[in-house]
Amino acid sequence: METLNGMERTHHCGELRKTDEGKEVQLAGWVSRRRDHGGLIFVDMRDRSGLAQIVFDEAAMGENFSKAETLRNEFVIGIRGKVRARSEETVNPKMETGEIEVVVNELRILNKAKTPPFYIQDGVDVDENVRLRYRYLDLRRPEMQKNIMLRHRVAKIMRDYLDEHGFLEIETPMLCRSTPEGARDFLVPSRLNPGQFYALPQSPQIFKQLLMVSGFEKYFQIVRCFRDEDLRADRQPEFTQLDIETSFLNQDDILNLMEGLIKRIFEPTLNVKIETPFQRMSWDEAMERFGSDKPDLRFGMELQDISEFVKGSDFKVFTSVLENGGQVKVIKVDDYANIPRRELDGLVEYVKIYGAKGLAWIQYTEEGIKSPFKKFYSDETFEQIKNATGAKTGDLLLVVGDKPAVVAQALGELRLEMARRRNLIDENKLCFLWIVDFPMFEYVEEDKRYKAMHHPFTAPRDEDVEFLLTDPEKVKAKAYDIVLNGVEVGGGSLRIYQSDLQQKVFKAIGLTDEEARAKFGFLIDAFEYGTPPHGGIAFGLDRLIMLMAKRKSIRDVIPFPKTQSAIDPMSQAPNEVDEKQLRELYIKTTVKKKTVEE
Ligand code: AMO
Ligand code: AMP
Repeated sequence: METLNGMERTHHCGELRKTDEGKEVQLAGWVSRRRDHGGLIFVDMRDRSGLAQIVFDEAAMGENFSKAETLRNEFVIGIRGKVRARSEETVNPKMETGEIEVVVNELRILNKAKTPPFYIQDGVDVDENVRLRYRYLDLRRPEMQKNIMLRHRVAKIMRDYLDEHGFLEIETPMLCRSTPEGARDFLVPSRLNPGQFYALPQSPQIFKQLLMVSGFEKYFQIVRCFRDEDLRADRQPEFTQLDIETSFLNQDDILNLMEGLIKRIFEPTLNVKIETPFQRMSWDEAMERFGSDKPDLRFGMELQDISEFVKGSDFKVFTSVLENGGQVKVIKVDDYANIPRRELDGLVEYVKIYGAKGLAWIQYTEEGIKSPFKKFYSDETFEQIKNATGAKTGDLLLVVGDKPAVVAQALGELRLEMARRRNLIDENKLCFLWIVDFPMFEYVEEDKRYKAMHHPFTAPRDEDVEFLLTDPEKVKAKAYDIVLNGVEVGGGSLRIYQSDLQQKVFKAIGLTDEEARAKFGFLIDAFEYGTPPHGGIAFGLDRLIMLMAKRKSIRDVIPFPKTQSAIDPMSQAPNEVDEKQLRELYIKTTVKKKTVEE
């Protein structure tokens, strides 16, 4: 087997340019693609920096040429050669190194490779399970390498920016008591404490607040968090946060600081201009206008209320909705009055997923108005609706009547779906905004009680404190989310730092003093020793990188992610463990052992 000894690399493949013409270079990397033209072999050679074309010429190499004929994809090679400019007709404008090639005079085969299960190239159409099973090869593909490099670059900028602004990176434990983030915990049995379990942190929330009690004033950590939730494209059981906490800053201070961070991350890496300050929208307004607390502002199609026009009619559906405190709202789809009936039927099913009982529509066509409730209203009413919503002939209104929460969800989702179908989303836009003034509580129907919408340490707005116990629905929190293109990329709040206020909030969510003490006694204790006003935020690093890299799933920016069913097809985690391991942990499972075939 050959080595690189004496032929150490002098350049990286992807960095060679026309200015290197005539240089003697030594490269090391992989065979990405090879084309055999008889006495001439062209190889695209790949390393981390990119591709370069290298040429083996029998006429020049003599008997050494036969070695080049044994090359196959993904062999690891080292070469020495001379950079030459390609002739005009062979320049490849699609390749960054397309103006040159390297004429090889020495080849060393450092290692052979089996034929990979898929091509190591961008845009492969391979089942994701196969990609994950051979993740080490999938990660060799240039686009995946770019994503991982971007991730490194962003983490580095985060550290630099926060360091410059006086933040300290401080670690917090992975083996914890469970934190009140609201998802299910991953548990770890304690061998030394039989029958007892640690929880993996859903976030370092309590510890970062304790660090404020300790007087560190500005903390951050790029930290793994664990949540046993149902997975989606933007959710993994373990994911990474940029976690931040500060003392003595108000909400505007924190938001401004974070906008500066976003600017610093996005501008150099994506070569864009980010305008600050970002728009700040109250939660109420977001729900009202977009039916979502993470509105995608890359397009319009806002929700509009037509209740006043449709009330008091013989159309039972709307009158009963309105009599019961509901509302009737629409979205306007431009130039789509001629939507096929079949598609409308499909949309009815679509909104049902989101809890709506039905969907109606108004088609303002050249031939007149078409609507399932046409016979219940005068032409004048349809004209009023047309004017109020800014519809023109040729437009379509999609209508949902229900309780406000259902209307918001159904029309909010329909808005996104119609924007996708009608191609209204400009993929090059970056629309940031802050959602502020979240409700403090949400009512949990099955438990018949309120729970904290963010977490129970989030401070209520000063002017709302008096309603904590009398009218909890009225109370807004000093909480904020940062949204990019319809994705929640971060969230945080100012915290409660006075014990009497904290006790009131616990009471509002139906926690007795004893229960609160049992859950987070150590935090309550700590707060009695001089706690500064404090607040913070956490960004979902994976989501941020996913959006920057224009990917549809965070799995594409995580080196070794889990599948939708929380499995790693490569290492086959999770797996069964030895009886002995279980015995040491005092654990017995009630699940029967899987046989190999299963
Ligand atoms: P929160 O629960 O909103 O806040 O989480 C912060 C951000 O983390 C990201 N995120 C996820 N990313 C991938 N997979 C998941 N399963 C997942 N869950 C959350 C989101 C989210 O905005 N301790 C508080 C922050 C604070 O109050 O300071 C917290 O964890 O982008
Ligand atoms: P139904 O009386 O349920 O047959 O409904 C009559 C029509 O009303 C349906 O064809 C729908 O177009 C419309 N509709 C029903 N429920 C709703 C709803 N919640 N919101 C909007 N339109 C509805």
